[in-house]
Amino acid sequence: MPVTTQKLIQWKQAGRSIVALTAWDYAIARILDEAGVDLILVGDSLAMVALGHATTLPVTIDEMLHHTAAVRRGTKEAFVVADLPFLSYQESPAQAIHSAGRFLKEAGAQAVKLEGGYPAMVETVSQLVLAGIPVMGHVGLTPQSVNRLGYKQQGRTRDDAQRILQEAIALDDAGAFAIVLEHIPTDLAARITEKLSIPTIGIGAGPHCNGQVLVTADVLGLSAQKPPFAKSYANLHGIITQAVRDFSGEVRQHQFPE
Ligand code: KIV
Ligand code: NA
Repeated sequence: MPVTTQKLIQWKQAGRSIVALTAWDYAIARILDEAGVDLILVGDSLAMVALGHATTLPVTIDEMLHHTAAVRRGTKEAFVVADLPFLSYQESPAQAIHSAGRFLKEAGAQAVKLEGGYPAMVETVSQLVLAGIPVMGHVGLTPQSVNRLGYKQQGRTRDDAQRILQEAIALDDAGAFAIVLEHIPTDLAARITEKLSIPTIGIGAGPHCNGQVLVTADVLGLSAQKPPFAKSYANLHGIITQAVRDFSGEVRQHQFPE
């Protein structure tokens, strides 16, 4: 049975942890979906892990649509969320509806994610929701703001923690169906998780969130560098290198094909 926003919210109430991972193409999406991942995020981290950019900022809507459509074709059960790329939604609610609508209409995404919980963004979220577009929030470390904030942990001071808590509550009130909490202290993530009616999906936010998300390239050992809070469960870089060396050796020694 396909995952829905209603189920994700029920799972929070039932204490069932939500498993989320990123994907950027058909092959990866198919593996994640068949392995039973609940939510697949076409994260704009694909700018770095699939396209070789230094940050998430350069990726375009058309590039994100191209990857999202491929992920959707590889997914049967998981809920597919697409990241709205930098400056495709910050201008106005109208711009956000236009951009988000393309992800649902042209690429088959079931929801979008956007960064920030400041008042103008909360208004944008409520307008997207009213237009029929499910929205996942994202507060704490927001990588599209790297030029202003860097990649450091957010919410360390009492005031900053209070601000992030208020942003999360406002996004919940605006109708977001879930919220990513990135790189904030464990106790702050626990407080937010307790206060919200919607599930929190943590990344570098400790064990008390309602679910966890990681960048799949980090999980698989494929990324050039991973953040301190990520964990690798495989070394695909090593496995692929060995396979390529084995193939090269057999070709050069005329052992393949037989
Ligand atoms: O782009 C991404 O991969 C993300 C996750 C880290 C939440 O936004
Ligand atoms: Na992202």
